[in-house]
Amino acid sequence: MRGANLGRGHLLVISALTAGLLAATGTPAGAATAPAPRFSPGAPGAGDPYFPDMGNGGYDVGHYDIRLAFSPGTGAIDATTTIFATATQDLSRFDLDFQGPLTISKLSVNGRNAAFTRSGAQELVITPPYGLRKGSPFVVSVSYAGVPQKIDDPALGVSGWVATKDGAVALNQPIGAATYYPVNDTTADKATYTQTITVPAGLTVLANGEPGPTTTHDHQTTFRWSMNRPMASELSMLAIGNYDVTRGVAVGGLPNITAIGRSIDTQPGQGKVFNETTAQIVQWESSMYGQYPFDSTGGILADVGVGYALETQSRPVYDQDTSDVDGDLLAHELGHQWFGDSLTPVRWSDIWLNEGFATYSEWLYQEKFNNVPVQETFAKAYADEKDWSGKVADPGRDHIFDDLVYNRGAMALQALRTKIGDRAFFDVLKQWPTANRYGTVSTRQFIQFVERLTGRNLASFFQTWLYQPGKPQLTR
Ligand code: TRP
Ligand code: ZN
Repeated sequence: MRGANLGRGHLLVISALTAGLLAATGTPAGAATAPAPRFSPGAPGAGDPYFPDMGNGGYDVGHYDIRLAFSPGTGAIDATTTIFATATQDLSRFDLDFQGPLTISKLSVNGRNAAFTRSGAQELVITPPYGLRKGSPFVVSVSYAGVPQKIDDPALGVSGWVATKDGAVALNQPIGAATYYPVNDTTADKATYTQTITVPAGLTVLANGEPGPTTTHDHQTTFRWSMNRPMASELSMLAIGNYDVTRGVAVGGLPNITAIGRSIDTQPGQGKVFNETTAQIVQWESSMYGQYPFDSTGGILADVGVGYALETQSRPVYDQDTSDVDGDLLAHELGHQWFGDSLTPVRWSDIWLNEGFATYSEWLYQEKFNNVPVQETFAKAYADEKDWSGKVADPGRDHIFDDLVYNRGAMALQALRTKIGDRAFFDVLKQWPTANRYGTVSTRQFIQFVERLTGRNLASFFQTWLYQPGKPQLTR
């Protein structure tokens, strides 16, 4: 069956190639002499050693168009996600990540029904009716329905589509996105997004990026949100429920949309304080880290019950369970917009490039707004740290959210500051995110970047602080 399809693909592609050669050279190129393209399946994973099944090979997604209707009574969704991608090899077949009990009713590639199977926990294996030639754009449309199920990983906590008392919140780091949409779930394949979400009139929907027009028909309201800058799937987000929304502006007239779940106990005026603090921190961080990378900002205080806040792109989500939603935490999640969101690590082992800098943002916040010098925070962290086992730049799959990554990551940065001096260090804080804006980065690249900027060999410094277990000596 697949062989027959592949055969047809060959014919189509060869005739297209012949036409191209004719147009380019005016010389007929016989199909017999043209090299036969070898179509093969895309890889079922993107090559991350911590998460071998996540992401896929053979194509690159440019845009996700997620259209989803949610029924609070049953908790079910009814959705169509359309993916605009480009083949990066001659593809006979490719995977998307998709998991859980949702049932697919229709799947097409370039408008034609395509064969699909589901394999393992999260592979949706798609065989288009003809091979997809390297470099060619293609469109995959998947219609599906059911009650999405969150992930509860013993080491990584709760992620994915989380049902709440009044709706749902989707938080996708590191492995949740595939619980409600088919996706190339790897930080290395960023894309733009539109999310068109229909809910019973009266409920509110928030998501990444900028709002479009909201329309109501037959007691159903449709909200539209678009993220027009590259976004990793782990940073995509949705919040459906009863929210009080505050609209303001941040630095340079940036739209600043914040929301607080109505069931959360708040002080009078807290909506305004949350909005203004967000704006103040975005402005301050922009002055240190360079221009804010997205077209809007904000934040959502929600009753999700996951016990963490998350740096979802342009609009972090703060679970009300989080110990304290204060300036520190806002500085952390908003700091991630540069470190973690605009710049995403190529592998999860490099997550200290997110968490080290986000934690350092908290330390800078303490200095700027609470008069606690960064060096004092460092000295306390260095003295109090009990566990010096583990490697900051390769903590292991089950340790990506450990103190090792956060505190020792930030300590490594303060040690670097001591080593290269304030001027060079603050240059790094601004130039690193500027030079790699919207990119995918590795620890190796970071080390090279700092070495180039300072003209120093820092191999043994970084070896000690990032790659070696054990408590580093403090030397100048
Ligand atoms: N990355 C989040 C932050 O630092 C926190 C986070 C996400 C987390 N998932 C988690 C923390 C799971 C503990 C467990 O902003
Ligand atoms: Zn963080």
